[in-house]
Amino acid sequence: MKTQVGIVGAGPAGLVLSHLLHLSGIESVVLETHSRSYVEERVRAGVLEQGTADLLRETGVGERMMRQGLIHHGIELQFGRGRHRIDFAGLTGGKGVMVYAQHEVLKDLIAARLEAGGTLLFDVEDVNVQELQGPKPKIRFRKDSEEEELECDFIGGCDGFHGICRPSIPEGVLKVFEKIYPFAWLGILAEAPPSSQELIYAHHERGFALLSMRSPKISRLYLQCAPDEDIANWPDSRIWQELHARLEVAEGWKLTEGPVLQKGITGMRSFVVEPMQYGRLFLAGDSAHIVPPTGAKGLNLAVADVRVLAAAIVEFYASGKTELLERYSETCLRRVWKVQRFSWWMTSMLHRFADDNSFDMRRQLAELDYVTSSRAASQTLAENYVGLPFE
Ligand code: FAD
Ligand code: DHB
Repeated sequence: MKTQVGIVGAGPAGLVLSHLLHLSGIESVVLETHSRSYVEERVRAGVLEQGTADLLRETGVGERMMRQGLIHHGIELQFGRGRHRIDFAGLTGGKGVMVYAQHEVLKDLIAARLEAGGTLLFDVEDVNVQELQGPKPKIRFRKDSEEEELECDFIGGCDGFHGICRPSIPEGVLKVFEKIYPFAWLGILAEAPPSSQELIYAHHERGFALLSMRSPKISRLYLQCAPDEDIANWPDSRIWQELHARLEVAEGWKLTEGPVLQKGITGMRSFVVEPMQYGRLFLAGDSAHIVPPTGAKGLNLAVADVRVLAAAIVEFYASGKTELLERYSETCLRRVWKVQRFSWWMTSMLHRFADDNSFDMRRQLAELDYVTSSRAASQTLAENYVGLPFE
């Protein structure tokens, strides 16, 4: 098999890359170890930056998102006993975010690629990438028990944090930057109308809590928990009790409960490798970097990477020029580090750290007070949350 760009992973990075390349007449093949239904049902992120939503809409895959997604022009920060709104629209010249689940984005992209005759191979096994420094890198894999080889010009390493692309780069090439947080998030999806019109990020002495949503009937809620927490210790009743305790500090406000449809625990880390390229292998999305979820940046950063990568590959095929490809890592990393900083800052401002003392608690409250009372500070939060401009 031959193609122009071999893409490992059918997550947001891999599918958006394949879609953007197709729109410029460049052929790709996407290889995915999981099944199509697994990819289309896996519950993950849910907040799209203005620029991510615009990209999906402008490239023809935003029709369902525009009908079913929820446009938000602000968030609430809760601390002490009160809530304080950050008005994104007023602070960023009318921008906002789109609340629309990651797996719905993936369904739309998969449908568009298949309709356009694209090749997406699900349920592949034993994927490995080879000859990365040469002009024709190869991807070997097994599909329906048959050994296959895909010869390409470039490889998109879009296979997430646990993929094989990053570990295929020889030792000593990549520099790793990492921070592990001493807590995790316990997330639930509940059949309950969201109790707030906008997301609520809550600082609380019992730990952080987040109220989010997926639709007018489905809530998405998160609780800070121990990093090694066993989900078996969290029956639904305990989860609701804790959510009530952390979110119900505003007078007369009540959290609506409903059947829990799904629950899981996500660890928290900040991670970056530099550079994001080795020969003709380009890492994009979670394969190159992870952010803690506070601020909802993971998916958006994956899309930002492949926007840069697609433009560089398009320029190469149009003119033979390799400048954009050579600058890929440098261009992406400028955004990656700013987004790392923002995600780390939101995480540190809102969570309880085990070794924090009463000084740290007062310091966090002062920071939240400052962020919500200074226009300059609110604007800093708002412009990062809706998404920094593209270069
Ligand atoms: P992924 O979405 O991980 O996609 C990689 C794909 O590659 C997967 O489909 C995987 O099956 C496939 N793959 C892996 N190995 C191979 C291989 N060897 N061969 C072929 N295919 C392979 N972000 C937020 O902003 N908010 C959230 O609430 C949030 N929740 C999350 C919960 C969890 C459990 C996780 C893991 C992440 C969460 N994130 C969240 C982060 C966000 O979902 C990711 O940043 C985003 O999915 C990154 O997209 P990606 O395409 O880079 O990687
Ligand atoms: C969601 C996830 C986040 O990490 C976040 O900061 C906001 C919302 C969500 O899943 O809805």
